[in-house]
Amino acid sequence: MRLRDCHNFNDFRSLAKRRLPAPIFDYIDGGADDEVTLRQNSASFDRCDLVPNVLRGVETIDLSVTVMGQKLALPVYCSPTALQRLFHHQGERAVAAAAAKFGTMFGVSSLGTVSLEELRKKYSTPQVYQFYFHKDRGLNRAMLQRAKEAGVNVLMLTVDSITGGNRERDLRTGFAIPFRLTLGGMIGFVVKPKWGIDYLVHERFKLPQLDQHVDMSGGAISIGRYFTEMLDPSMNWNDVAEMVRQWDGQFCLKGVMSADDARRAAEIGCTGIVLSNHGGRQLDGSRTGFDQLAEVVDAVGDRIDVLMDGGVQRGTHVLKALSLGAKAVGVGRYYLFPLAAAGQAGVELALGLMRAEIERGMKLMGCISIAELSRKNLRFR
Ligand SMILES: Cc1cc2nc3c(=O)[nH]c(=O)nc-3n(C[C@H](O)[C@H](O)[C@H](O)COP(=O)(O)O)c2cc1C
Repeated sequence: MRLRDCHNFNDFRSLAKRRLPAPIFDYIDGGADDEVTLRQNSASFDRCDLVPNVLRGVETIDLSVTVMGQKLALPVYCSPTALQRLFHHQGERAVAAAAAKFGTMFGVSSLGTVSLEELRKKYSTPQVYQFYFHKDRGLNRAMLQRAKEAGVNVLMLTVDSITGGNRERDLRTGFAIPFRLTLGGMIGFVVKPKWGIDYLVHERFKLPQLDQHVDMSGGAISIGRYFTEMLDPSMNWNDVAEMVRQWDGQFCLKGVMSADDARRAAEIGCTGIVLSNHGGRQLDGSRTGFDQLAEVVDAVGDRIDVLMDGGVQRGTHVLKALSLGAKAVGVGRYYLFPLAAAGQAGVELALGLMRAEIERGMKLMGCISIAELSRKNLRFR
């Protein structure tokens, strides 16, 4: 199987599975507990149908949206994800370059493997910085200042990870916190020597968002310590309100689900929220972002931008979310598997397929702009 044989999410996933050591593939692919939420994320899109209109004159389609003040050529953005250079040596550079090519936004994780400054300098497309809240308020302020100086467009605070999800696939391979590969996990690496060579001949693995502030010299063990010792499980709405004031710019909460929390986010001055369950990796049994969309858009959609992510694999998934009122849709594994499969060329192919699917879907729906999509286009079964 080659990149040119990839036509959809499952093709990229299969190719990534062939190339990655099993523990890394499972780290990307897996979810928490019984992976119910992971499955529901995609299944939720199948519980409703699109109702197209015809004969609307659809030769030119405009896919652009404005979200949190950022003009995007595509209503889909690359959600921040950790450790990308483990999946392919180009890592965040590949994702940022592909996002820039398609005129959309990309996220850089606190656990990113390329510095937010380097990415900001090289690519002019809107950049999100995903942030975790530390016990040390001075450290939080320093990191916000650094992101501000770099020119980050949107600060995204992840609020669904106050403690780690129970990812049992990672426990079985040892690709977990604390990091200790099991025999099976080791074999998973040994049988993929090409990945190992690729990893060794390229630039050393780093976590540049953190290692200026935190001692990360212990590698994976340090990530464990970072989560258990440095992040603040007592984080509350007052802390975030203070952070919103300090940032004084586009500020988004990632991992909101309830309408009450969405209202509070609007009250403290957030300009956006992402309805997300972290790709099914945190609270298993959680509601999906798609299933919560209508309720939350009705509660706050006139005050802040409501985004969603989780389970998006098709252009029609995006059309359904936009029809319910999402301003844009985030993808994670949708670009991570192509990254693992083929680096930048993979991510570009995936985003190109997504753009083509959305454009085709819009034509078949009889809509020439995203604003024309509405709940009239959707029926739940
Ligand atoms: C391998 C992997 C790593 C992730 N790392 C982060 C992270 O560092 N910070 C964060 O806020 N979300 C992280 N996420 C969650 C994504 O940003 C996004 O919410 C999720 O992947 C969406 O679901 P999807 O993969 O089904 O598209 C990660 C997801 C995956 C699959």
